[in-house]
Amino acid sequence: MLNKHTSKQIIGTKSEVLKGKKIVLCITGSVAAMECPIIARELMRDGAEVYAVMSPAATKLITPDLMEWATGNPVVTQLTGKVEHISLAGDHPDTASLVLVAPATANTISKIAYGIDDTPPTTVVSSAVGAGIPIVIVPAMHESMFRHPIVLDNINRLRSLGMEFVGPRFEEGKAKIAHIDTIVAYVLEVLTRPKDMKGLRVLITAGPTREYIDAVRFISNPSSGKMGVSLAISSIQRGAEVTLVYGPGTVEPPPLAKVVSVESTRDMLEAVVTNLKKEHYDIMISTAAVSDYGPDTKIDAKTPSGKKDFAVKFVPLPKVIEKAKEVAPDIFLVGFKAEYNIAKEQLITCALNKIKKANLDMIVANDISKENAGFASNSNEVYIIDKSGEVTHIPLSPKRVIASRILDIVVKKYEQKVLELQKSSLTPRSAEE
Ligand SMILES: Cc1cc2nc3c(=O)[nH]c(=O)nc-3n(C[C@H](O)[C@H](O)[C@H](O)COP(=O)(O)O)c2cc1C
Repeated sequence: MLNKHTSKQIIGTKSEVLKGKKIVLCITGSVAAMECPIIARELMRDGAEVYAVMSPAATKLITPDLMEWATGNPVVTQLTGKVEHISLAGDHPDTASLVLVAPATANTISKIAYGIDDTPPTTVVSSAVGAGIPIVIVPAMHESMFRHPIVLDNINRLRSLGMEFVGPRFEEGKAKIAHIDTIVAYVLEVLTRPKDMKGLRVLITAGPTREYIDAVRFISNPSSGKMGVSLAISSIQRGAEVTLVYGPGTVEPPPLAKVVSVESTRDMLEAVVTNLKKEHYDIMISTAAVSDYGPDTKIDAKTPSGKKDFAVKFVPLPKVIEKAKEVAPDIFLVGFKAEYNIAKEQLITCALNKIKKANLDMIVANDISKENAGFASNSNEVYIIDKSGEVTHIPLSPKRVIASRILDIVVKKYEQKVLELQKSSLTPRSAEE
């Protein structure tokens, strides 16, 4: 009888943060596979058990024996009657805590994006998706491959499914695998992420609205829906049940959200009011870039070309957010305020005015004239302001990071509000009961 593999002696020698966690390391055919023994062993030093799964292309670059030595566990290089993909990443109590695809080739990323699984790593990922296991993907390839628009589209597709990407690092004409420390830190963050929204029901509005002038023309704005979708993804990851009332944005909504698609401001208002009346929600976050004005009438035909002029009268549209507390008085209500090219003090004053006007609990304000911030960009710089005037500044960061910082504050303030309501012998659901 063989003893436990001696390689496992390093498990937990640095920390016990990952104690009890099972990480499946899917290795695909990139030269960056040479980093895998070190990635595996660093995760082990933090307490994890690591199981390697290799594609045939990966086994041509590093040997399965090396990964067996590194992890102390048998390596999967082909699927057999043991249904390795299910034992490792099926829907059962002993399944993986996380699947790490590192390095991920252009080929494997694109296959995962289309549900193709014809190698052990892609089949493990397919099963992990259905089993709801967190998946972290670490791309590595030449920059020319990374710039392929379909590869970029596929990365976005996977992001919108809730998969998380680390790197790549652009260096020497390559989209290189992220540094090992970064990969390990990311895995630690995902596996220790709070589940502090479990049991909470959240309604999020996102995207632009369209106001039709005639049958084929409308006015709108460049909102992509990225901020609202990022908040929806992060809320789901933290355990919340999410309804997304979504205008015509450009990013895919998360599959685990209940999505209500809308087009105009009035549609959005109706969807919000109907949902708030129908079911109890604890939190509403209004990120949608709702049109403030719309044509007073819609021409029910295509206006012919060749007219000398064409006047349209715009009238103010209803304010969706201002109706929320009329329908759900105890909801924790978070608004967004976008201003263009104004000083920080002015931005905060406008935000505080909006808190009063719409009876908000919190607001997130930003100046959309800033480079790489606001509409359609992947990053933003925001000020989070609460009812009491407390301001938290979040410097320019990816929208996913902004979403997570906003939720940290939302959860804290929501809990405070619940306690205050309990103290005054009311509960947040009292209006319903
Ligand atoms: C030496 C060598 C290095 C390679 N490095 C990469 C790479 O870094 N990234 C990548 O996407 N493909 C790379 N390839 C190409 C992939 O191995 C190839 O697309 C293969 O079909 C990937 O299969 P897999 O995704 O199932 O592992 C490399 C190929 C060779 C021969």
